[in-house]
Order: sequence, then C-alpha cells, then structure tokens
Amino acid sequence: MSRELADHLRYYAELGVTGVSRDPQWSARVSDTRANARVAEAVDSPEARVSDTLDIIKTDIGPACTRCKLCTLGRKQIVFGVGHPRARLMFVGEAPGEEEDKQGEPFVGRAGQLLTKIIEAIGLTRDQVYIANLIKCRPPGNRNPEADEVAACEPFLFRQIDVIQPRVIVPLGKFAAQCLLKTTDPITRLRGRRFDYRGATLIPTFHPAYLLRNPSAKREVWEDMKQVRAILQNA
Ligand code: URA
Repeated sequence: MSRELADHLRYYAELGVTGVSRDPQWSARVSDTRANARVAEAVDSPEARVSDTLDIIKTDIGPACTRCKLCTLGRKQIVFGVGHPRARLMFVGEAPGEEEDKQGEPFVGRAGQLLTKIIEAIGLTRDQVYIANLIKCRPPGNRNPEADEVAACEPFLFRQIDVIQPRVIVPLGKFAAQCLLKTTDPITRLRGRRFDYRGATLIPTFHPAYLLRNPSAKREVWEDMKQVRAILQNA
C-alpha cells in the first residue's frame, strides 16, 4: 500500500504537480528508488552490437527520402529515432513536430519533455530506452499523418523494432497504437490492455501532447507505466 502511494506521489511530483512531497509517505521513496534501480540495471545492458543494423536502416532511408509527399511539404530533415540500440523499452510516437524537425530528434519539444519525465518516473533515462515515430518526417502544420505517408514509412519502423527487439513497446496516442495494431479502435479502448506484438508486449497509452491538454489523464498513463515497469522488472 505505501509503495503504491509512494509511486503515485513521486509520479505526480516528477510531472510537476506541486505539493505532493509534503505527504509523510514521501519517505517511502527510498524503497521505490531501489525498485527503479533494479529496472535500470536490467535495461541498461552493455550490448550495442546491433547499432550497425540500425545504421543500415538509416542509410536505407537516406538523408533525402522521397518515398512520400512529405519531402515536398517543408520537412527539414528525417527524424530517425534515438536511444539505446538494444533498449528493453521502446516508445513509438506519431510524427516529428516543429522542434523535432529542427533538431533531428524525436520528442524534444514540450510533449517530449513530459515524455522524459514519464520515463524517469519508472527509473529510466532517455538513453536507456528507444524513441521513434510512426513516420519520420514532419507533416505540414503538424497535421495528422496520411495513409500513404504511413504506408511508405512504417516498414522502417517495423525494421527498427525487429533490430532492437524491445521487451515492451509503448505506442503513444491513437495513431501509433492503431497503426501498429492495424485497428481503428479508439485509443480509449486500446489503452489499459496488453497485446503481443513482434515478440514484445505492447502497452498503448495516451500521447504526452494529450496529457498537456488533459492533465487528469496522467493517472491512466501512470497505471500503464506501472505495468511497463512490472514487466521489465520480471524480465
Ligand atoms: N509528437 C510525436 O508524436 N512525436 C514527436 O517526435 C514529437 C511530438
């Protein structure tokens, strides 16, 4: 019970909710930190032997991919993915936004900062997980990815997943979850469930950008992240 409460309080504190650390249960954080350290140990394996295969995928895409119309619609660069090449946990977002397009790295804008806090809340760092997007180029004005763009780009994501072989995949938001699972079910029906997917357990959750607009949904995301942590701890 105290561990649950400590988890809960720490999660909210890490996401910037003020006041929670005044609770006396806060001292239970020590034991939770140990649990997180065990996950970090398990996740941060020294293997990096497949990074050249990720390199091959990146080379295959090329620095000036023209497989879909996004190459003519203002994208600055391809945003391939970032993180540990043998990560046990992989996040899949939708598409790069403006900041990601500028920096060439997924989830570096406001939603990305929240994702980083979510990752840290289960005792991991961005370097220990892998973060990619369904499509690798920014759609103009951050519009939703279109079917032809997803069709052109998703094979590269599938190859990334197969090279990394994560234990857990977390699609962030409706687009990533629906595309990976090949379903039109709404995210509200997909989250809270587990799926077997390419040798991994897939746990859909809400997109961090949605959490920025609907902070109360952080509670559900925390439930999902506890599932993720439990799987990684038991692996
Ligand atoms: N939203 C996404 O889905 N991906 C990013 O990389 C940034 C924001």
